[in-house]
Amino acid sequence: MKFSVVTIFPEYLEPLRQSLLGRAIEDGLLSVEVHDLREQAFDRHRTVDDSPYGGGAGMVMKPDVWGRALDAWAPPGSTLVVPTPAGRPFTQDVAAELAGAEHLVFACGRYEGIDQRVVQEASTRLPVHELSIGDYVLAGGEAAVLVMVEAVARLLPGVLGNPMSAVTDSFGTGSPGLLEYPSYTRPAEYRGLPVPPVLLSGNHAAVDRWRRDESLRRTARHRPDLIAALDPSSLDERDRAV
Ligand code: ADE
Repeated sequence: MKFSVVTIFPEYLEPLRQSLLGRAIEDGLLSVEVHDLREQAFDRHRTVDDSPYGGGAGMVMKPDVWGRALDAWAPPGSTLVVPTPAGRPFTQDVAAELAGAEHLVFACGRYEGIDQRVVQEASTRLPVHELSIGDYVLAGGEAAVLVMVEAVARLLPGVLGNPMSAVTDSFGTGSPGLLEYPSYTRPAEYRGLPVPPVLLSGNHAAVDRWRRDESLRRTARHRPDLIAALDPSSLDERDRAV
């Protein structure tokens, strides 16, 4: 799979070459290209923005510059992702959907965003997803791209050392719709706090049951909205007692 990022801050995307992703690039499982939007500007000053029609604060990124950038770097067959706080929420399901693409191209907006006609015109040629990583406003799309690329890349075959991790994770398919249970490792006692004894019991059924109980409790405490959204038929007697 190929990831391309178009940005006015190419250095911001350097972390994509570290850690899990860096290893996956070395292993040939994915490739990452970062392009400087200013290469497509028309003037000496490499201008990429202008004042908004209708007035108001801030600047808007120019459609003609973005048009050239996408002509150059978002070929037919690619999928365009535009990070924006005004987008559809980026969730694990969306990450799984994007993981099926051959080539994802991320268009990073800054300032007040990109002239809307860029998305409108690109949508006539390519699948386009305007996506938000949360209900807060970042200074630009770059940090959101780091989040989305990592979430998508770890779902690609071979990227994770242990593919079960993607299954048991919060929002993975382990206990659908629930947050992940808490984890423990040695020592068995840390600053007076013991590991929950069931985890040392060797009783796998009891461990599974305990983990599901903890997932339910954690989800109820941190994300009551997820409990409300659960399919009641996915709950058993003991779940209801938690
Ligand atoms: N750009 C600015 N804020 C953003 C957000 N919350 N999600 C995606 N892109 C953004």
